[in-house]
Amino acid sequence: MAATSILLSVALLCCSLTSAISVKFHGGRLNSNEDDAIAFLNEYNTEYGALVNQYVIASWNYETNLTDENANAVAVAGGVAGAYYEEASATASTFDTTNFSEDTKRQLSYLDSVSLEAAESEELYNILSDMANIYGTYQACRSNPMTGVKECMYLEPELTELMAQVGNYEDHLWAWQAWHNGVGRQLRPLYLRYVELKNKEAQLNGYADYGDQWRQKYETTEMETIVQDLYVQVEPLYKQLHAYIRRKLYDTYGPDKIDLRGPLPAHLLGDMWGRFWVNLNSIAIPFPEKPSTDPSPEMIRQNYTVERMFQTGNQFYTSMGLLPVPDTFWNLSMLEKPTDGREVACHATAWDFYDGKDFRIRMCTKVVFEDFQTVHHELGHIQYYMQYAFQPLNFRDGANDGFHEAVGELMAMSFSTTKHLNAIGLLNVPDDPDVDMNFLLFQALNTISTLPFHLTQDTWRWSMFRGDIPLEELNDNYWAEKARVVGVAPPVGRDPALDLDITAIYHVCNDFDMIRYFMRTFYQYQFNEVLCQAAGHTGPLYKCDFYNSTAAGDALAEMLKLGASKPWQDAMEALTGQRDILATPLLNYFEPLRAWLEAENIKNGDYIGWDIPPKQLVNKEFAPHLKEKMQQKLGLSPARESPSPRLRKNRMSSDIRPALHNVRL
Ligand SMILES: *[C@@H]1O[C@H](CO)[C@@H](O)[C@H](O)[C@H]1NC(C)=O
Ligand SMILES: *[C@@H]1O[C@H](CO)[C@@H](O)[C@H](O)[C@H]1NC(C)=O
Ligand SMILES: *[C@@H]1O[C@H](CO)[C@@H](O)[C@H](O)[C@H]1NC(C)=O
Ligand SMILES: *[C@@H]1O[C@H](CO)[C@@H](O)[C@H](O)[C@H]1NC(C)=O
Ligand SMILES: *[C@@H]1O[C@H](CO)[C@@H](O)[C@H](O)[C@H]1NC(C)=O
Ligand SMILES: *[C@@H]1O[C@H](CO)[C@@H](O)[C@H](O)[C@H]1NC(C)=O
Ligand SMILES: [Zn+2]
Repeated sequence: MAATSILLSVALLCCSLTSAISVKFHGGRLNSNEDDAIAFLNEYNTEYGALVNQYVIASWNYETNLTDENANAVAVAGGVAGAYYEEASATASTFDTTNFSEDTKRQLSYLDSVSLEAAESEELYNILSDMANIYGTYQACRSNPMTGVKECMYLEPELTELMAQVGNYEDHLWAWQAWHNGVGRQLRPLYLRYVELKNKEAQLNGYADYGDQWRQKYETTEMETIVQDLYVQVEPLYKQLHAYIRRKLYDTYGPDKIDLRGPLPAHLLGDMWGRFWVNLNSIAIPFPEKPSTDPSPEMIRQNYTVERMFQTGNQFYTSMGLLPVPDTFWNLSMLEKPTDGREVACHATAWDFYDGKDFRIRMCTKVVFEDFQTVHHELGHIQYYMQYAFQPLNFRDGANDGFHEAVGELMAMSFSTTKHLNAIGLLNVPDDPDVDMNFLLFQALNTISTLPFHLTQDTWRWSMFRGDIPLEELNDNYWAEKARVVGVAPPVGRDPALDLDITAIYHVCNDFDMIRYFMRTFYQYQFNEVLCQAAGHTGPLYKCDFYNSTAAGDALAEMLKLGASKPWQDAMEALTGQRDILATPLLNYFEPLRAWLEAENIKNGDYIGWDIPPKQLVNKEFAPHLKEKMQQKLGLSPARESPSPRLRKNRMSSDIRPALHNVRL
C-alpha cells in the first residue's frame, strides 16, 4: 500500500475535471517526477483493482441473496477499498502534474475525491442499502377481486406483468397506487437525508451541489443548455406520438378515463413508470391488419428459453467479430429469478468485476421480446467492459455514461429489424411499407417515449439538489414538471406531505442519474448511421442490420477500446468523424413515422399537446425565502468562503461503489 501520508493540505478546488489536481500550500514541495507517478499508478492498479474485485464479489453475493450477513460483508469490503482509495487520492494529490503526459494527468484526475467524515459516510451507506432493500423486497398485497384470497406481488415479475397488460384500468390503478404509496412513502425520509449528505459530499469536492457533480461527468459546464437544445429538436416528434397514443388509449378505455385534450394517465402506459411504452404496441400498431413486428408470440411458440436468448445475443456480437462473453459468464451469472426462496434484486444489470475476466449479468429474464432486447442491451455493457479491460483501472469506464448505455441499444436496434428477425425465424413478414410503419412505431415506443421521461427525471432532480423546490412542494412540483414536459399525470391524488413518487424507480433510490439514458438515445442513432455505412447498407436506416459485418464490428471496437482514456468527444470523433452530440440522425431515422403520425392525427382531428387541468399542478416560481429554507435543509452552504480543508482519514467511503454501468435501458 502506498505509504505516503498527508498531514493537512488545503486544496484549491475547482470545477473542471482537468484542473482537479490540487495545488498545495503546505511546506513540502510537490513531486513533479512523472516516473514516480507512473510507479504509483501501477501499484494502485494492482492493489486497488484487487480490492475492488473483492468488493464487487461481495456486492454480487448480496444483491443475488439479500441477507443481513451478506450486506455486512459488502460494508466490510467497501470499508477496506474505501480506505485504500482515500489514501491513494491523498498520494495522487502530492504530484505536480504540470509537465506530465496527458495520459498520466488524466489517470490522476480520477483520483481526487473526498468523502464525508466517518459517521456521515456510514449513515449514507446505510441509507442507500435501506433504500435498495425496500425497493427490492416490497410486496403489494390485496385480496383477489375474484376469489377474495389474499395475494401478494413483487415488482418483478408480478406487478411488471400486470402493468404490461393492456385493458384493465382498475388493476393498473391498484398496482400503481400500491407501489407508489408503499415504496415511495417509505423512501421519502431516507431519500431526503440522502440528498442532504450527497450535497455535502459534492460541496466537499468543490461542486455547487450533487446535480452539478453529475452534470460535470460530461466534462462540460453546459449540460443544462445541451439537453434543452436537444430536446427542442425532438419535441415535435414526441408530441405527435403523444397525441396518437392518447387517441389509442381513448379507444381502449373510453371518454370517462381519457381526456383527448389532457395529459396521459401515468398508470396506463405499459410499465410502472410510463417510461417505456412498448407494451402498448398491441393497441397502437399502425396497420393492425398487417403483420406485427413484435416476435413475442413466436418466441413462446418456439419454446425459446432464457439461455437461448443469451446465446443468440452473444452470437450477434461475435458475428461482427466482437468478443464473446467468457465461459464463466454462463455459470456465474444470474439469468433467471431464483426459485429457492432467496430474495434478490431483479433489476437487470451487467457487472464488471474489474479483474479483466469476470463479467456477469443479473436479470430476472422472461421469455418476451422486450427482455430479448434487454439481453442485447446488457450484453452491450459487457462488450464495453471486455473491450476496455486492458486499460488502467481509472480508464475502465465508458467515454461517458451515455456511451455505455448506447452500445447495447444500438445492437438491439439492428437485432430488432424485420430483416434480422425474418432471418432468424422469429418473424415471417413481407417487405411492405405498412409493415415498416408498424416497425417504426414499435421502435418509437421504446425510444421516443423515453426522451421527455428521462429528461425530466434529471432536470427535476437537478433543481431539487440545488434546493430550488421547497419541501412541501416537492411531489406536486415533480408532477407539475411531468405534466408540463411529458404530458403525463398521476392517476390519483397525491399527498404532498407523504408522497415522493420520483423515488419509486430503481435508478433514483439506487443513486443513478438518468440523463445518461436521454443522451444515449441520441448517441445510438448517431452510431447506427456510421455502422450501417461501414456495413455497406444502402436505403432507409430503419432497414439496416449490421449483423455479420466485421467492418462495423471493428469500427465499434476501436471506439470501445478507448474506454474513458479520452474525453468523450474524442471517442465520438473516432467513430463518427465529428465531435458533437446530434439530434439529426434520430430525426432522419424517424422522419417517415413523424410524417405518418402527423397525417393520422390530422385525420382524427387530434389536438397536439395537452391542457393541464386547472385543479392540477402548475409550475410555480417559489419565493426566495422558501428556497433558502430548503437550501439550508439540504446543507447547501452558499459558496462564500474558500472551500473547506480536506481532512484525510481512513474511513469508509460511501462512494466507493465502483461505477457499475449496469442499469437496464
Ligand atoms: C445466502 O446467503 C446466506 C448467508 O447470509 C447463505 O447462508 C446462503 O447459503 C446463501 N444462499 C445461497 C443460495 O447462496
Ligand atoms: C515544466 O517544464 C518547464 C519547461 O521545461 C519548466 O520551466 C518547469 O519548471 C517545469 N515545471 C515543473 C513543475 O516541473
Ligand atoms: C385472482 O384469482 C383468479 C382465480 O384464481 C386468477 O385467475 C387471477 O389471476 C387472480 N388475479 C387477478 C388479478 O384476478
Ligand atoms: C414446444 O413445447 C411443446 C410442449 O412441450 C411441444 O408440444 C411443442 O412441440 C414445442 N414446440 C417447438 C416448436 O419445439
Ligand atoms: C464455471 O465454468 C468454468 C469454465 O467452464 C469452470 O472453470 C468453473 O469451474 C465453473 N465455475 C462454477 C462455479 O461452476
Ligand atoms: C453471416 O455470415 C455467415 C458466414 O459468412 C453466413 O453463412 C450467414 O448466412 C450470414 N448470415 C446472415 C444473416 O447474413
Ligand atoms: Zn444499461
